[in-house]
Amino acid sequence: MICYDVPCSSKTFKIIVELGMGDGRLLRKLLDVDKEANRKDVREKRPLYFGIEIEKSNYDKAKSLLENFANVKLINGSFEVLINDFSDCSIDEIISVLPDSEFIDIGRQDSWQKFYRVVNRKMSRHGSFRLVTELIDDLLQPVSDEAYNVWLHWIIDTFENLGFSLTQILEGSPDGYESECLERFKGDPERIRLATFDFIKKA
Ligand SMILES: C[S@@+](CC[C@H](N)C(=O)[O-])C[C@H]1O[C@@H](n2cnc3c(N)ncnc32)[C@H](O)[C@@H]1O
Repeated sequence: MICYDVPCSSKTFKIIVELGMGDGRLLRKLLDVDKEANRKDVREKRPLYFGIEIEKSNYDKAKSLLENFANVKLINGSFEVLINDFSDCSIDEIISVLPDSEFIDIGRQDSWQKFYRVVNRKMSRHGSFRLVTELIDDLLQPVSDEAYNVWLHWIIDTFENLGFSLTQILEGSPDGYESECLERFKGDPERIRLATFDFIKKA
């Protein structure tokens, strides 16, 4: 079932939101993995996924890719606006894979920092935020280890100042993650260096 209503906090469901889901490939992968998971503990919250995407053509692709899953809701619109429809402290997991530059570039941080403060507010007390992003050299030269490390520290410091705590960082994307853009970006690992940041909300 895919519908348009927007949630409030839930004791029954584990709310997972993907920002900018593209064609829905990652959600499909996560849902397939969940379907195979053998949940023995009846007290465990059941996952309920939300995918938000602004581009109608991507949203339509995701809709058809995910039409057979009952526990996903797709929303066509801007996550900057729609995030406000979630109650504060209601989202258990937020995923952002390769956000557009306007939501991560160093030069545009004054505009996107406000958005991530809202993201932080919407996360449940034990909620997590997984950010997969990339560093590309301006002149499309290979990215040096030095530049990569400076960038990693800049991301971590910036998000720590916005109320997040880093729990894990890994070079590249998480095992098992698939998406249209990841496939493309992974084809040029010297010039496009990926990193995954797992954050929680600061106590
Ligand atoms: C670089 S693509 C990554 C897509 C997908 N996560 C992937 O890895 O293939 C960024 C995506 O975010 C979407 N997007 C950009 N701004 C958005 C916004 N304000 N609200 C919702 N989606 C947005 C774009 O349409 C695009 O699908």
